[in-house]
Amino acid sequence: MQRFRATAPGKVILFGEHAVVYNRPAIAVPVTKVQAVAALDPTPENNGLRIVAPDLGRDYRLIDAEPDDALALIIRSTLAYLRRSSPPDAVLTVTSTIPLGRGLGSGAAISTAIARVLVRFYGQDLPPAEISALVYEVEKLYHGTPSGIDNTVVAFEQPVYFVRQQPIERMPVGRSFTLVVGDTGRVSPTHKAVGHVRQQWQADHDRYEQYFDEAGRITTAARAIIEQGGSERSLGRLMDENQTVLEAMGVSSPELARLIQAARQAGALGAKLSGAGWGGNMIALVERRPAAISAVSKALTRAGATGIIVTDVASARR
Ligand code: PMV
Repeated sequence: MQRFRATAPGKVILFGEHAVVYNRPAIAVPVTKVQAVAALDPTPENNGLRIVAPDLGRDYRLIDAEPDDALALIIRSTLAYLRRSSPPDAVLTVTSTIPLGRGLGSGAAISTAIARVLVRFYGQDLPPAEISALVYEVEKLYHGTPSGIDNTVVAFEQPVYFVRQQPIERMPVGRSFTLVVGDTGRVSPTHKAVGHVRQQWQADHDRYEQYFDEAGRITTAARAIIEQGGSERSLGRLMDENQTVLEAMGVSSPELARLIQAARQAGALGAKLSGAGWGGNMIALVERRPAAISAVSKALTRAGATGIIVTDVASARR
């Protein structure tokens, strides 16, 4: 029988994480070198939907899923959206090369791939905004109070300038640039760092509002540079400034600091944590020369990075 397949990319936040929860802007880009894949194999038996997720060590029937099961939730909400009262008789296999829980959008990508494969199976076509809205509901399970940036950038697969509850703004990229993404190897549950910032904000409202404003200013400046293809050095400086603000918010960590310092010493134009912090990944802006990319990648590995991804933010407009 015909197999249906759909994918979704990972993502990194370039600027504005945490502040974006408080309605300041943020910038995120897809990372297509890693991806989630959902494959749907229809079965002749009338057995309902079986979910196989080898990376998560799981194999179960949709009908047996716990009420808070994230995979079941995106399946059920997509089926409801498509006005299907029962799931297809099929095996849904979900795999992903996106490291879990490290700020690379694995949850949003898995949900997006599943929604897409179901849409494809039923011969429908859902625009990215609809997929993003379905995935957002599942993101609430992981994050508590998600800003919506992850589902947006993953579903649209384009650089986005994102402000909570506002229509998405796609960002043209004036000149391609290269990022090296370094993994601390430490899983960081997003809701914990987000909860910490919320507590601190409640305790010291004015100071945290200032941090969010500062992050917003940096993000707006970065947007102009990226869109106009401006100076990479200036963009790198803005990444360093954003990292300083994130440190003040209390969401960096010794592992992140070590990788960020190693990247800067190896010639990166700027470096910062990406995502919720307290582990997860950091990103470094590097010159688009093989020697520069290799120097930063090696320095990160020496400093303890458990994984490196080199990714281009390409200027080609789609
Ligand atoms: O999913 P992560 O780890 O990339 O974190 C998302 C970024 C935050 O701004 C910290 C939270 C949010 O909902 O935007």
